[in-house]
Amino acid sequence: MSDAAVVLHDVSKRYGRRQVLAGISLAIAPGEKLGLIGPAASGKSVIAKLVCGLEEPDRGEIRVFGEDVVGKREVQLGPLRRRIGMLFQNYALFDFLTVERNVAFPLEQRGALTAAEIATRVTDRLKAVGLAGSEHKLTAELSGGMKKRVGIARATVADAELVIYDEPTAGLDPVTTQKIYDLLAADQLRTKATVLAISSDVAALAQFVDEIAFLYQGHIIYRGPAGTIADAPGSAGPPVRARRARGAARWRPGDGQQAATP
Ligand SMILES: Nc1ncnc2c1ncn2[C@@H]1O[C@H](COP(=O)(O)OP(=O)(O)OP(=O)(O)O)[C@@H](O)[C@H]1O
Ligand SMILES: [Mg+2]
Repeated sequence: MSDAAVVLHDVSKRYGRRQVLAGISLAIAPGEKLGLIGPAASGKSVIAKLVCGLEEPDRGEIRVFGEDVVGKREVQLGPLRRRIGMLFQNYALFDFLTVERNVAFPLEQRGALTAAEIATRVTDRLKAVGLAGSEHKLTAELSGGMKKRVGIARATVADAELVIYDEPTAGLDPVTTQKIYDLLAADQLRTKATVLAISSDVAALAQFVDEIAFLYQGHIIYRGPAGTIADAPGSAGPPVRARRARGAARWRPGDGQQAATP
């Protein structure tokens, strides 16, 4: 799919003796919302970092908006990164900056808006994620759920063309989870951004994304419409048929340490 917004082709990644990704290929069309699921430690976050060029694959090609990500130096990746909004699983907020300055950061990097325009955008975003009034707090003063929402505000503030959400609702209560997904869906409808969303809450994720890809033991063993996932028993994985077909029937939600070994 040469006109895809994101392409991973035959990508492998190993850490020490652990072969995390064993030649995965994945494409996301412009404006598509792809959900990525898989057991803990299967490499979902690694894929997110590879797409942003924060990690290097051992083998394979990665292109975002037609640009090669692999082998680029940090400074060369700058312009591409500014087109990507990323919510990191561990928040990755700047702990020396206030909430307001954290969210303003992507807009300041772009340099297209005045300080007043940035302040308005930031206030709007914080309100949208339910954090109005927290502008001047330091991230150390925030709960995990609040940090997550600051991360979401930062990932979406600049209307990035590609948004990557790594566990956008982990640790949030069901009501807040729904609100966050409603917000992400409304944003995507407005911006038509390409989305890669990683989540362990498969049922909520399936309502948001168009398609779901399932990462298991270093391979994408299933990809299909999100609806089929929601219909699966317990909404906890891809259809049983798909899992059995690839010898992955032993996978259960919450299985932790089953990623591929050499
Ligand atoms: N920088 C790194 N150095 C060494 N090992 C790493 C590094 N990053 C990831 N790993 C390993 O790669 C594997 C996959 O990690 P990753 O964080 O992608 O899992 P995940 O699927 O996102 O899991 P979770 O559902 O718990 O978030 C893990 O075994 C992890 O320890
Ligand atoms: Mg992860």
